[in-house]
Amino acid sequence: MKALVVNTSPVQNGATAEIVKIVCEKLSSHYQVKSVCIDDYDFDFCLGCRSCHKTAKCVMNDGAQALMNEFEIADIIVCVAPSYWADVPGQFKAFIDRCTPWCNTHEPHASLSKGKRGYAIVQRTGPNMKECERLIETIEHFYGHLEIERSGHIGFTGIECKDALEPHRAEIEKFCERI
Ligand SMILES: Cc1cc2nc3c(=O)[nH]c(=O)nc-3n(C[C@H](O)[C@H](O)[C@H](O)COP(=O)(O)O)c2cc1C
Repeated sequence: MKALVVNTSPVQNGATAEIVKIVCEKLSSHYQVKSVCIDDYDFDFCLGCRSCHKTAKCVMNDGAQALMNEFEIADIIVCVAPSYWADVPGQFKAFIDRCTPWCNTHEPHASLSKGKRGYAIVQRTGPNMKECERLIETIEHFYGHLEIERSGHIGFTGIECKDALEPHRAEIEKFCERI
């Protein structure tokens, strides 16, 4: 089975990347693991043209399609997100918008193959878990419309940089045991 771990932060070596690293290390004993960063992909914003509502295809063909191909290959998808202004980073939100051809609210729509399980791991600097829940809701809403089974989530507060994650390593590893 294949697992895809997505750093949805544009920062390649920050706290989100550190979680991705811990998750990849832990999952690699059970899965063939690949990690990607949203920043590895170049794509444009959704135009809101709704062509995909009629064709199930985007009028653009760029990095959004390439990242979606990684989703298609994976059995397990773990999206890891920092809070940027109390939601997922704009780069990831822009990708979610570009997944509208796969959104199950219109017919025809493209479909990922069935049976995928999706997990969300989020972190923020502030102390309040409610904001983490907002990010989790964004990610799980995305999974829901792609018919990826929402299979688990966890959030961390008080994370300013990757060093702040060290006390949480065991908890992240324990979460991975449920994947
Ligand atoms: C543009 C920006 C906006 C942020 N907004 C919030 C916020 O609304 N709430 C919060 O708790 N932390 C916020 N943070 C802090 C990040 O969530 C935190 O530093 C996180 O660990 C960054 O992870 P990264 O370096 O992997 O992107 C923000 C950071 C940035 C760069």
